[in-house]
Formats: sequence, structure tokens, C-alpha cells
Amino acid sequence: MKAVFIERFGGPEVLTYGDLPDPIAKPGEVVADVVAASVNAADWKVRAGEYSQATFPLILGRDFSGIVAAVGAGVDDLKVGDAVFGVLEAGREGAYAEKLAIKAAIIAKKPDALAHIDAAAVALIGLTAIRTIEDTLKLQRGETILIQGGAGGVASFAIQLAKHLGARVITTASAANLAYVRGLGADEVIDYNREDFTRAVSGCDAVFDTVGGDVAQKSFAVLKPGGRAAFIASGMQAPRPERPDVTPLRPAVGRARAPLERVAYLTTSGAVRVPEIKLYRLSGAAEAHRVSEGRHFRGKLVFKVR
Ligand SMILES: NC(=O)c1ccc[n+]([C@@H]2O[C@H](COP(=O)([O-])OP(=O)(O)OC[C@H]3O[C@@H](n4cnc5c(N)ncnc54)[C@H](OP(=O)(O)O)[C@@H]3O)[C@@H](O)[C@H]2O)c1
Repeated sequence: MKAVFIERFGGPEVLTYGDLPDPIAKPGEVVADVVAASVNAADWKVRAGEYSQATFPLILGRDFSGIVAAVGAGVDDLKVGDAVFGVLEAGREGAYAEKLAIKAAIIAKKPDALAHIDAAAVALIGLTAIRTIEDTLKLQRGETILIQGGAGGVASFAIQLAKHLGARVITTASAANLAYVRGLGADEVIDYNREDFTRAVSGCDAVFDTVGGDVAQKSFAVLKPGGRAAFIASGMQAPRPERPDVTPLRPAVGRARAPLERVAYLTTSGAVRVPEIKLYRLSGAAEAHRVSEGRHFRGKLVFKVR
């Protein structure tokens, strides 16, 4: 099969588009013919060697949409020909390929109303947004949340999910993306280059930070006493607040079928619109990584694999 892989860590130039052996379905797994796979910020971090040591060649990519091509022993709820989508097991890469093997229990059937390109685009961002907003922050109707980095993939989903749950949403973006995040439903939008969000915002019940660094650390300032903040771009630990009356949280983005079914429901019911998508071929992976690593595009970059 064709795949995009690395044989050493480095910049986008280490991405190779070439041939690797087809995967085989072990017990409990299916092999899927990948129709689409998306680029996530984690992919260029893996490529650059920011995560634990890998075995090479390492195929990158975490989420996909495709068609079941083979079924391993013990899988009785999916069959050859089913359209499915999902996110590889935590710590596993391998979606930038024509085929992948994955545990059947952590993927979901793709509804006909959701195109493969769209399903691949929302799989990991939707899972992350649901795990953070619903399972970790437990955001309630009527609460106010600041979502940092509104134009990014995860935040694009999170803004709409928070609005769907009946929360008031404040978000940050650069000038070029203000209209985009308003279109996603944000009630208040801060141009973070013109305005210091810690002066513009206060009294929030919750923060969802997708940016990291200083932005993460400063985010505690906008919380009201008893507020909670969730961080997904600050490594495996949430930053430590300088005040004692707020709760820092680091969501566990566990893979499972149920939250993917919720992603499918939210997107097909119209509660969440699929973010803007820019399409690439697998052979254009290096260019897609340059754009993603630039950290200022909006929406999602998706590979049309077949
Ligand atoms: N399981 C997990 O823990 C998990 C899962 C998914 C993602 N993540 C992490 O979460 C982060 C976000 O992922 P993603 O895929 O959503 O990212 P992304 O799509 O690459 O985010 C890019 C966006 O960030 C915005 N941005 C950059 N700097 C900003 C700033 N200072 N303030 C506000 N917005 C800013 C940019 O918008 P502007 O051009 O408007 O600045 C751009 O649209 C990444 O670090 C990723 O690794 C973790």
C-alpha cells in the first residue's frame, strides 16, 4: 500500500510517500481501506520527535474514515463493506495510508449523511471536544466558557458544542479569523493581537485552552472563584494556577465507539457544522505539515486518500 511515513525525526522533509506492506487484522481488529485521513497538530509533533521513541518506519496520522476490508477473529459487529470512521489507539499512529488495522471496538459506523472527508475531519477534533467539554469540564447550560484558539480544529468543534449545550461562548482569534469564529456561533470574539484577553474577559465558569504556552498559564485569570480550566496543548499535565480557588484539568481523550457516535449525531443533526476543509493528496503531506505547523490556518487539512 501507499503510505506517508518517517524513518527519522525531523522537519517536513523527512516525510516519505512510498510503499509499505499492507496491515493484517489481528483478533478484535478490522482492516479499513482508508478513504480520507486528517492532519492534526499532534502529527507534526510526532514527526519532530516530541513524543516517545518510535519504531521506524513510522506511518503518521491518527484519524480516518474508510471502508472495512477485512475482519479479524472475534469481530461480530462490523463486516466487510461497512463505512467506518475513528481515531487510532492513544500512542498509535498510522492513518496516512491506503489501509490501516484498528480495534473494532473503538471505531464507529459512518452515517451516509456524513461524507468520508468530513468524517475524517471531525473524528479526533470531535472526540477531543466531547471528552473535554462534556466529560471533563462538564459544561452546563447558562455557563460562560472561554475557548482559546477558536479558529483551530478542536476549538471549531468545541465552540459549536458549547453553544449546543446552551453555554455562552467567548473565543480568541486573529483578525483574519474573527468572522469565521463568529459564524461558528461564538457570542464574543477577542482579537488576541489587539486586546489582552485577561483584561477583556472575567468571571468565566470554564476555560478550554487549545493554544498552550503563556496563553494557557494566563487563562486562569479569567475564571471566577470555583472555575475550572482544561488544557490540551500543555503536555500531559495541566499548568499549575497561581490562585488556589480554581481547578486545572487535563482531559483524557480516551478512544471509544460511543463518543464517535456522538460526533456523528452532532454533525448529522446540524448541531455542529464540519469546519472549513482544505484537501490534499497523501503525496502532498510535507506541504500540509508546513501549513499545520504554521499554526494560523483555520479549520482542517484533510487527505483524500482514494
Ligand atoms: N488528545 C489530546 O490531548 C489532543 C487532541 C487534539 C489536539 N491536541 C492539541 O491541541 C492543540 C490544538 O489542536 P488543533 O488541531 O485544534 O490545532 P490547530 O487546528 O493546529 O490550531 C491552529 C489555530 O490556532 C490558532 N492560534 C494560534 N495561536 C493562537 C493564539 N495565541 N491565540 C488564539 N488562537 C491561536 C490559529 O488561529 P489564528 O490564526 O486566528 O491565530 C489557528 O487557527 C494542539 O497543540 C494539539 O496538539 C491535543
